[in-house]
Amino acid sequence: MSDSKGSFSSQNYFPTTIFKMELESADDLNRHLLEATYKEREADQKGIARSNFTKLGGWHSHVNLHKMPEYAELVGHIDNTTDRISEELGYARSHDLAIGSMWSIINPPGSSNRAHVHPGALWSGVYYIQAPEGAGNIEFIEPRTMNLMNQPKYLPNTRRKRSCWSKVSYKPVPGKMIIFPSWLYHAVNPNLSEEDGDASNRIIISFNLNQKKVR
Ligand SMILES: [Fe+2]
Repeated sequence: MSDSKGSFSSQNYFPTTIFKMELESADDLNRHLLEATYKEREADQKGIARSNFTKLGGWHSHVNLHKMPEYAELVGHIDNTTDRISEELGYARSHDLAIGSMWSIINPPGSSNRAHVHPGALWSGVYYIQAPEGAGNIEFIEPRTMNLMNQPKYLPNTRRKRSCWSKVSYKPVPGKMIIFPSWLYHAVNPNLSEEDGDASNRIIISFNLNQKKVR
């Protein structure tokens, strides 16, 4: 250890912040959302291909769920959460973080979502409706690729400090919402659930947010 006398400190700048909101009682909400999601798939079985590999069985709804009454309660929870984010980050009170698009994804066993970003949005989020054991974590990847080019050696057998991680993953849990910068690359691991039938599906709602002038 150094014996230099003086003041030593570190400052973290340019952080990559991920917000997490865990709803206290989401069972009824998730039951309704589950029903609405299957109804949506019934009406639009083909869905649209985005980050999901359709051939692996993943289904992606249209992107206007936030305009449908079935999703109003969830939209309320998202609005409450994004108000807290705007407050936390010191955003202008003249603007709200508003949902511009919202969609659902059903990933049956074997399906996954390839790494992607959400162009055109400021913040993006995911809400978990159903997530059986092994359903597949969402993984966020170090956005500063220059930081991956020449990596330092860290202490062996020691958990790295969070500020030195190059990726982080979150386990999907029903009732949990994660909001992340839209530019942050993320992927979803394959659903390895061994549950039977519909109980094996990984079901989520995702959304994009931009600041919108409050009327
Ligand atoms: Fe995504």
